[in-house]
Amino acid sequence: MLTKENVLAKLKEVKYPGFEKDIVTFGFVKDIQIKDENIFVDVEIVSSAKEVGDELKGTIASALEAIGAKRVDVAVKQPKPPVQKSNSQSGKNIAPHVKNFVMVSSGKGGVGKTTTTVNLAIALASQGKKVGLLDADIYGPNVPRMMGVVDTNPEIVGQKVKPIMAYGVEMMSMGSLMEGGQSLIWRGAMVMKAIEQLLRDILWSDLDVLFIDMPPGTGDAQLTLAQSVPVTTGICVTTPQQVALDDTERSLDMFQKLHIPIAGIMENMSGFICPETNKEYDIFGKGTTRPLADKFETIVLGEIPIEPAVREGGDAGKPVVFFHPESETAKRYQVCASKLWDKIEQINAEGGVSNESIQPTTPPGVSACSTAGAKSDDHSCGCGH
Ligand SMILES: Nc1ncnc2c1ncn2[C@@H]1O[C@H](COP(=O)(O)OP(=O)(O)OP(=O)(O)O)[C@@H](O)[C@H]1O
Ligand SMILES: [Mg+2]
Repeated sequence: MLTKENVLAKLKEVKYPGFEKDIVTFGFVKDIQIKDENIFVDVEIVSSAKEVGDELKGTIASALEAIGAKRVDVAVKQPKPPVQKSNSQSGKNIAPHVKNFVMVSSGKGGVGKTTTTVNLAIALASQGKKVGLLDADIYGPNVPRMMGVVDTNPEIVGQKVKPIMAYGVEMMSMGSLMEGGQSLIWRGAMVMKAIEQLLRDILWSDLDVLFIDMPPGTGDAQLTLAQSVPVTTGICVTTPQQVALDDTERSLDMFQKLHIPIAGIMENMSGFICPETNKEYDIFGKGTTRPLADKFETIVLGEIPIEPAVREGGDAGKPVVFFHPESETAKRYQVCASKLWDKIEQINAEGGVSNESIQPTTPPGVSACSTAGAKSDDHSCGCGH
């Protein structure tokens, strides 16, 4: 006997494509009608990608046929595909004065997302852009420490909060709004609210780019963001080992499912350059991300080596791009930031759907190739040759 309860229980087994959560938990199932052995399901999703809707229709039908439905009709309501900027979109933008949103994600934790986001943001600001950085890692907010503002309290203006200024970048994090060392035990829905508030209730100025440092994985935070603002592009950070790359593939797949154009992959901890000998060692491997970039028709934005100054800068709140601009790593971040900006302009000019390779341009004050002694055909330091 088919009942709404057992249909709902079965639908709880249907995962939203690219995510670990099911469509019931996400709140996408709007109505269920049962007549004899025929079931009608009404679903509303946030992705405008036709393949996502088609995949869902198929998986819902098979799931319900398995519990005895003779006929399954699934109506999937999707937002219209974007015409102007291609993005995630449910058409919503709760931070309309921000021109471009860049989501920095990774499949795995600890690969260097926050380090990358902080240094790219400072690099782009040093190239004359108005840049903000939102720490969307609600459970583990590390941005205030890495930006050297861990003890800075933000200024409250009425019901809103002014972002904290550091190294030419506007910054806000849940870590800046809580007492130091507090941990958050929040339900998913509260995480979604928190991210929305960080976008809506912070007095961001008219930014060219707002970088968003995501928690690792593909979950609520990523979906909430895609539902709240038109994400211009996504960057995926990974380390070169195969185990990290497997998770990276999931992260890239998530961008595609959310219709977010991919700016590129950042291969972090890509080799170690010995500061004494300038010799390069492949600790986790090197250059392993290129096949994955090809598969997703995107580029490797840059390869960032392990450099002790990067870790020290992170811990001390003195980012390498700002404090050691002459270092190899800082130069590579500068080139990556410049390539990223080119990509953003390309996405905006084209209305967004293409992820074609772009030719890098060189930011002011940075030599075209900063890889000391590297052969021209065996590296991808971000110099593009
Ligand atoms: N290229 C690098 N060279 C040296 N140390 C690095 C490099 N990249 C990151 N690190 C160090 O690795 C550690 C993890 O980096 P980070 O916190 O940026 O990772 P994450 O992906 O944001 O982690 P989480 O998933 O927990 O948010 C930090 O101590 C950071 O300083
Ligand atoms: Mg982090």
